[in-house]
Parts: sequence; C-alpha cells; structure tokens
Amino acid sequence: MNELVDELESPLVLIVDDEFLQRLPMREALVQYGFRVLEAENGIEALRLLQNEHPDLVISDVVMPRMDGFDLCQTIRRKNGLKQFPIVMATSMDDVTSIERAYQSGATDFITKPVNWGLLGHRVRYILRSARTAQALVTSKLELLRTRLEIIRRLGQAAEYRDNETGNHILRMSQYSVLLGRAMGLSLHDQELLLNAAPMHDVGKIGIPDRILLKPGKLTDAEFSIMKTHSTLGGRLLDNEPSLLLQTAHQIALTHHERWDGSGYPYGLAKEEIPLMGRICCLADVFDALTSKRPYKQPWSVEAAMSEILLNAGTMFDPELVKKFVGILPEIVKLKESIPDTAQALQETLS
Ligand SMILES: [Fe+2]
Ligand SMILES: [Fe+2]
Repeated sequence: MNELVDELESPLVLIVDDEFLQRLPMREALVQYGFRVLEAENGIEALRLLQNEHPDLVISDVVMPRMDGFDLCQTIRRKNGLKQFPIVMATSMDDVTSIERAYQSGATDFITKPVNWGLLGHRVRYILRSARTAQALVTSKLELLRTRLEIIRRLGQAAEYRDNETGNHILRMSQYSVLLGRAMGLSLHDQELLLNAAPMHDVGKIGIPDRILLKPGKLTDAEFSIMKTHSTLGGRLLDNEPSLLLQTAHQIALTHHERWDGSGYPYGLAKEEIPLMGRICCLADVFDALTSKRPYKQPWSVEAAMSEILLNAGTMFDPELVKKFVGILPEIVKLKESIPDTAQALQETLS
C-alpha cells in the first residue's frame, strides 16, 4: 500500500467512462496504488455519485453518451463549494482541441490516452495534493478576510461603547448609508465597502477623554474643540493601510463632520471636495442621532428629523443626497423599525 493512503486517508477516486474495458485497468492501477475507486458510465451517473459518495477526485472520459466529459466538468464547477474540486480529463495524446476544451470547461488537469498505468497513481496523487493546497489557500484567505471584517466591526463597536450611543446606532447608520449609496448609483462593490467601513466613522472617540465624551450636559467651547479631534484621531488610526476597506474607513472617519458649505471640520472642505462616502455617512449619522434616544434627549419623530435635514440641505448636507434620502425615506423608516434600540437588541449586536 502506498504512503498516500496514510497521508490522505485512502482517497476516493470516481472514474467516469462509458467503456468497461477502459475503466477496468484504471480501477486496477488505482486500487493497487492505495486509492478507493467508484465507477460511473456517464456524466449523469457521475453527478449522482458525486453528491452521495463525496469522492476526492474525478477522472473523466471526454466522449460519453447522455452527458459528455466537458458538460460534466462545467456542471461540477457550477456547484457550490466545488470550484477547486480536482477534475482530471482523459484525452487522446494528439487531440489538442479536446485538451483546450477540457481546460475551458474547468478541468484541473488531463491525462493522455493510452494511459500509462504505471504512472497513473503518481499523477493522481500529485493532482490531489495540488488541489488540496489550493483549497487550503482559499480557506485561509477567506478566514483572514472574515477575521479582518470582524475585527473592524468590533473596533467600530469599541468606539460606540465609549460614547453615549448604543450598539445599534452603527448598525442602523451603516445600513442607511448603503441605501443612500445605492440611491446615488454606487456599485455593489462600493456599497459593500460602505457597509463595512461606515461602522468605524467614530472610532477616533476612543482617544477622547471620558470627562468630555460622557459629559451629560452641554460641552464648553474648549471641550468641543477636543471632541472635534475625534475625526482626525480616527483618520490617523486608520491611516496608511493598503486595504481598500480601511482606506474607505479612513476617509469616512476623517470627513463625516465636514459640511457642504465648508463650515465643518477638520479641514473645512466644501461641496464635492468632501468625498461622497463621507457626505453619505454624515447624513446617515445625523438622521440616526436625531431619531434615537440619548441620555440628554428624547428621540425626534421622523417628520421632525426630516424637516431639520431639509432645513440644512445645502448648508450642512449635500442637497442632492438629501433629495435621494427623501426618495428612499419609506425604506429608511422600515429599516429603522427593524433595528430598534432595545437592551436585548443591543446584547445581540454585541454577542
Ligand atoms: Fe463623529
Ligand atoms: Fe455616529
């Protein structure tokens, strides 16, 4: 028995060929090498076995009745979770067109007919190993991405803990931002960036002293000046990162208090000088702050918040954005109602 059996726990290979006299020597060569083997006479049968027996690799003939090797290959590739699944096509040595079509159909590799039975096991072992390495890479890349998003989400929450706001504020404002971004025609990719970056808009509040951040009354001018530094602090915290997500978060943290008329902070940018992501988050942030309960105020009604926003269109807010916001107000209200500020909702957000 070959060392492969120990290493990969006797991999299961599915041979797909309509000719018994082709399957037989292939089966013998593979079994001798330590593989377990399943056989199918055509693509339809192969798909059934793939679903029920979960083989580790498929070796398929090209020309078969009912479903040929190319169709089988394409069908497997369309299935969820089988993008990296190792599929080997058996083609004639001189049939370059078939080899090309095999790769186009998503085949991992090919073996040529007549098959060298003595080398088949080695070849299959090599293909399996490569496929497993590729799969492990994809898995760790996804895991890295997931962890990064989770850390970013929790960083945003950490900032909210320091504030008087609840965990659901960032959830709502980031989703309002996405609706607004969609209404402005942002691509799906940019909407996703917005969804993941907006929660960090106030991350700089981590650096604001408690006596100012948690003060129940009105801030003095000096205190407000310190409070305003949260946008540059956040910008600095998220600076110099190659990831597009953190670059977007940096931009939002830095510009979500700029005002359309140039009277905002930290830079006093005006109109289109303010990045669109920053303008969107500014509006979404203010709408949620107005319509939510805070220790120092009761929630405003949507009508009252909207008249305040309309009043500030062209001074605080991008007037075009306000127009879009009015257009999607029913969706915004629906979203608001679906994410209330209950103690339980807060707990769920944090868990
Ligand atoms: Fe802020
Ligand atoms: Fe906020």
